[in-house]
Amino acid sequence: MTGAASAQYPAVADEKFLPPDAIVERAYVQGLPAYRELYELSLSDPDSFWSEQAKTLTWQKKWPSPICKYNLDVGNGPVHIAWFDGAETNLAWNAVDRNVEAGLGDRVAFYWEGNDEGVERTVTYSELKSTVCRIANYLKSVGVKRGDDVTMYMSLVPELPAAMLACARIGAVHSVVFGGFSAEALADRILDSAPNVVITASGTMRGPKPIPLKTIVDEALHICEGKGHTVQHVLVLEQLPLSDVNGSMKPGRDVMWREAVDSQPDECPVEWMPAEAPLFKLYTSGSTGKPKGVLHTTGGYMVGAMVTTKFVFDIHPASDVYWCTADCGWITGHTYVTYGPLLLGATQVLFEGVPTWPDASRCWSIVDKYKVTIFYTAPTAIRALHAKGDAFVTRHSRSSLRLLGSVGEPINPEAWRWYYEVVGGGRCPIMDTWWQTETGAHMITPLPGVTPLKPGCATLPFFGVEPAVLDEKGNELQGPCEGMLVIKRPWPSMMRTVAGDHKRFEQTYFSAFKGYYFTGDGCRRDADGYYWITGRVDDVLNISGHRIGTAEVESALVSHPSCVEAAVVAVEHAIKGHSIYAFVTLMTGAEPSDELRKELISTVRRVIGPFAAPDVIHWAPGLPKTRSGKIMRRVLRKIASKEEDQLGDISTLADPSVVQQLVDLRGK
Ligand code: PRX
Repeated sequence: MTGAASAQYPAVADEKFLPPDAIVERAYVQGLPAYRELYELSLSDPDSFWSEQAKTLTWQKKWPSPICKYNLDVGNGPVHIAWFDGAETNLAWNAVDRNVEAGLGDRVAFYWEGNDEGVERTVTYSELKSTVCRIANYLKSVGVKRGDDVTMYMSLVPELPAAMLACARIGAVHSVVFGGFSAEALADRILDSAPNVVITASGTMRGPKPIPLKTIVDEALHICEGKGHTVQHVLVLEQLPLSDVNGSMKPGRDVMWREAVDSQPDECPVEWMPAEAPLFKLYTSGSTGKPKGVLHTTGGYMVGAMVTTKFVFDIHPASDVYWCTADCGWITGHTYVTYGPLLLGATQVLFEGVPTWPDASRCWSIVDKYKVTIFYTAPTAIRALHAKGDAFVTRHSRSSLRLLGSVGEPINPEAWRWYYEVVGGGRCPIMDTWWQTETGAHMITPLPGVTPLKPGCATLPFFGVEPAVLDEKGNELQGPCEGMLVIKRPWPSMMRTVAGDHKRFEQTYFSAFKGYYFTGDGCRRDADGYYWITGRVDDVLNISGHRIGTAEVESALVSHPSCVEAAVVAVEHAIKGHSIYAFVTLMTGAEPSDELRKELISTVRRVIGPFAAPDVIHWAPGLPKTRSGKIMRRVLRKIASKEEDQLGDISTLADPSVVQQLVDLRGK
């Protein structure tokens, strides 16, 4: 998507929302001057800034100076980034044991709400420690060692973050795959990291719909076997009875959680890991090829997760109840469910379900039930709830709320205002956090006691983050401007490589503009120095806050025997932000029909997952291409959004008559 979203924002919004006194008084950073001073320090003396933050955590071995060693310039040799190199620590120790040792064992770590109302559990820090140790002992009993991969495919139950922490405890590398991905997509991810163990559950409900997780894992493992990788062990948490989701157990490979884990000892020593030891892989879509395994490492990620959670959400662990609605299958669930809040000893809500089930008041009834003070969600959820009307919100008190957050895509000012006025009652600042799977933690974001807010704007850089805006030629723009968003220096939680493909890492992020990390996003900087993210400038789609590569959807469509070529673009959608619009060219002899349309959509669901399904299939006898054969998506976007009167210059098209042909076929 190019900066399609930018049109909806004013160039400079004068309207500012100042933080209420009650927020400023208790904030860790009070006021813009204090922020600016600390921000300057974080850039001029990173050693002292980050040492000060890192020392609040436990390290088995301290780091030598300099705190960061790096090269981001492909012209100067391989790109490498190392933070706290030479130090040793353990994430699970810091997130769990450290809190128990500090006397917080009885503090609630998770209030878990299941998909269905009335299904709930409470997990204290001591209980979490026992569960983490038991899972870690199970993993050791099946031969998992430091550096080994473990894949997880589950819904958001407390066992999921516990399993992630169990890996971290013994130095294994977790790879969580969102439970909405299809068997084929799961198989791709398993094949890439080649784990011996997969952790899953029998099945669960998402809203009113059963999700047969174990059966999907079986299918994925069958695909993997056909491609030469056999997973030795599958650990199955029994949620729905296995028979209810037509699941079965394979003797010798599959074990039930209660048999394999519950009987394990509840103590397990931690492995002290080098700061640069891999912590996890998380697969995400790029503009080309298969999803890539974004690799994050231990020390820098830990510090980045802790520091951003602390400052951006201004968490005071003894009194706050924090709730991030993200699933652990996405980066937000990694950093702002599993790691950040636990590193601070905070109490949080874990919610397995969806915000509209059983109705649109579910979130607010959970807020009241647990007296949630900090609520963090995605614009797509906000828009979906807004569409249902205010009554679902206002029938609950929400008086405990003091801070709101948004992540995943640009939040349109209308949704922002509704979130602010109706959900937050006009008293809760909204932290519109811009970041990415690759960045590991918040990058551009307001701070509660600091930043005057503008609806729809991610505002100012976090400590240690030095953004710049470039024009297409790579020149740095000054002052108010619009261009490509890059980052000029490394930050602790930055990804270190693409698992198994360092060249792809260098090519994707460091080859477009030498010496800079290229985000793939466009942005505008206004006269106040605020950053407005305008959306992706590469071929990555953002649908309901989920990242999907155009190439992935196109290759799924082309895998259908009747499809010879496909091109997908994003069009605006009231709830999802954008939806997928696919132009499909059929094989000679294949005829367009409603049935074929359904088959094509279900092919995408099967190959990637339901969330990647196109909303529209537009039959295309030909696609607009340049003479060198490049598809002109700009033209397709205009046709899809009925703006063919604004096509601009199409003289470079190999066959301009294709355009009229496509316009005539719209809606057919
Ligand atoms: O385009 C930006 C958008 O989401 C992309 C990153 O997607 P992903 O790696 O899946 O991570 C999502 C959760 C961090 C970015 O390149 N994005 C994320 N947050 C925002 C955003 N766009 C505008 N405003 C945001 N707050």
